[in-house]
Amino acid sequence: MHTKIAPSILSADFSRMGEAVEKLELAGADLVHCDVMDGSFVEPITFGGQMVKNIRPLTKLPLDVHLMIEHPKTQIKFFAEAGADIITVHYEACAKISPDYLGETLQLIKSFGVKCGAVVNPSTDVEKIFPVLDMCDMVLIMSVFPGYGGQKFILSAAEQIKKARARALSIGRAALDIEVDGGITAQNAAEVRRAGANVLVAGSAVFGAADMSAAIAALKA
Ligand code: DX5
Ligand code: ZN
Repeated sequence: MHTKIAPSILSADFSRMGEAVEKLELAGADLVHCDVMDGSFVEPITFGGQMVKNIRPLTKLPLDVHLMIEHPKTQIKFFAEAGADIITVHYEACAKISPDYLGETLQLIKSFGVKCGAVVNPSTDVEKIFPVLDMCDMVLIMSVFPGYGGQKFILSAAEQIKKARARALSIGRAALDIEVDGGITAQNAAEVRRAGANVLVAGSAVFGAADMSAAIAALKA
């Protein structure tokens, strides 16, 4: 499968966000990963729909919105109308509300004509989202506990990716996007790709590099 790189703008300078987003397209990125944090599901607060709306006209790349928030259903409308191309929601945030909440949220995202995906933390068995896999355009496997960029890759994520890819194949969804997020570097990129991930999020590895194009090429190599 063709590997796509989704640089996380969490690692960009927020005072120069427009410039950062424009640079990504020139540097060979495939998606723009937007980390939305609410100060409750995770400690920090990042940004809301207004940021997505403002960067939308600056790039042709799909905007990949990762919602690390409680009660995601209440926010879908804002991100969909702001121009998100794909919205992913955490299993953990949904499961504490009700068993049906994840499926309902995915359905709501689809109703706006936006692609949808489910996310699992490193401590959540990816099997938990198998019941809604047929609704998902993407599965996001966290390889760090969400909240901060620059953390170390958690090795067990490779097993989660393998399980998800095997399940996708077994239900006839060979082309399902499997995204991995957290601690991705040029050193572990090949391993997560071999495990079955085809969308790699990278914050520090892209924005911390002197040459962004070279960093993106290294993650694809
Ligand atoms: C973690 C975020 C990630 C993070 C990735 O909460 O979801 O997208 O920004 O950053 P790196 O690549 O630095 O781990
Ligand atoms: Zn993310």
